[in-house]
Amino acid sequence: MARTLYVTEPLLPNLTELQELLEQIWQTKILTNGGPLHQKLERELQKRVGVPTVKLFNNGTIALIVALKVVDLPLGSEVITTPLTFAATAHAISWNGLMPIFVDVSPGTLTIDPASVERAITERTSAILAVHVYGTVCDVEALKCIADRHNLRLIYDAAHAFGVTVNGESIAAFGDVSVFSFHATKLFNTLEGGLIATPRNDDGEAIENLRNFGIKNEEEVVCVGINGKLNEVQAAVGLLNLPRVDGERERRALLRAKYDEMMGLLPGIALQKKQPGVVNSEQYYRIVVDAEVFGRSRNDLYDALKDRGIFARKYFHPICTDFVPYKGWPIYTTRSSPYVDIVKTQVLCLPFHSGVTDEDVAEIRDVFWTGRSV
Ligand SMILES: Cc1ncc(COP(=O)(O)O)c(C=O)c1O
Repeated sequence: MARTLYVTEPLLPNLTELQELLEQIWQTKILTNGGPLHQKLERELQKRVGVPTVKLFNNGTIALIVALKVVDLPLGSEVITTPLTFAATAHAISWNGLMPIFVDVSPGTLTIDPASVERAITERTSAILAVHVYGTVCDVEALKCIADRHNLRLIYDAAHAFGVTVNGESIAAFGDVSVFSFHATKLFNTLEGGLIATPRNDDGEAIENLRNFGIKNEEEVVCVGINGKLNEVQAAVGLLNLPRVDGERERRALLRAKYDEMMGLLPGIALQKKQPGVVNSEQYYRIVVDAEVFGRSRNDLYDALKDRGIFARKYFHPICTDFVPYKGWPIYTTRSSPYVDIVKTQVLCLPFHSGVTDEDVAEIRDVFWTGRSV
């Protein structure tokens, strides 16, 4: 193997174009605080995300923390979430002085299991924080029914779901509020960045205040805000990356088809299923390895790929209940034991970006097909 292959590779703007925007910034000397490039990117994103309120943040984690503030939950109340996610999901709940309650995921989608959510609801429950993990859309209808029935707020961590639509509708149209991440590992990146999107017209001012230390104007500080501002250099990168996202997504879709063709015949390897009516974010290519059927474990495959310089990731292992702050916390489930405890040992995300060549795919095929005749 001549080179190292990572699970993702960032979309990078053309340097000459970036230089032009940097010169603009140097001229105006406006570096942050909602400057002209920030405003332009927010307008562009609003068109793209397609909901009335769209506010940029300096990263997805701060955006999640603020999103939980926006829905105004009683201090100490319980927020039901999935343990199969990045640490930021659970931590955003804790940073708000709320209690994360972990429930099982559905086999197949690996998103939060609605029946397990119902099982975990108590009089202390105030919200559900669901994650469109790997870009797979949660059971949005079932979650809405549960939230409506129990008068709970419904927040979506859509960090992996930029550009997803369901029957032509933006993923951000579901729930009370959705949060995207524009971290370097994401399909669309602003180096670091994030976005809060809500289907309502009247959330904008509250989110802006929370993003800017609670400062409403020179004379008034109206709430306990934070510094969530994206700077002008990040906005410049975003403006240049945004028009290139669709091309990258199309190239990844082709790569997905190649992987699917190569993996589809392998017993014990479950692929991410196409969801009817859903336009995929093409954020991750994840598989689930059943070691008993396949004959080799996820860890085995991970190591074999690594030996060839191919760095797959065991996202999202360890799960939240394996982290020190939540260690041993219960995972509510309708099954005899949580499915997530099994699947966390089976998930693997393969390199998934337009830098993956046919030779790379052949090399990965080699690892998976070694010793097989079918
Ligand atoms: C599911 C999920 N939520 C939240 C985040 C946090 O986003 P950020 O890295 O932009 O803070 C991430 C991370 O990248 C993530 O994968």
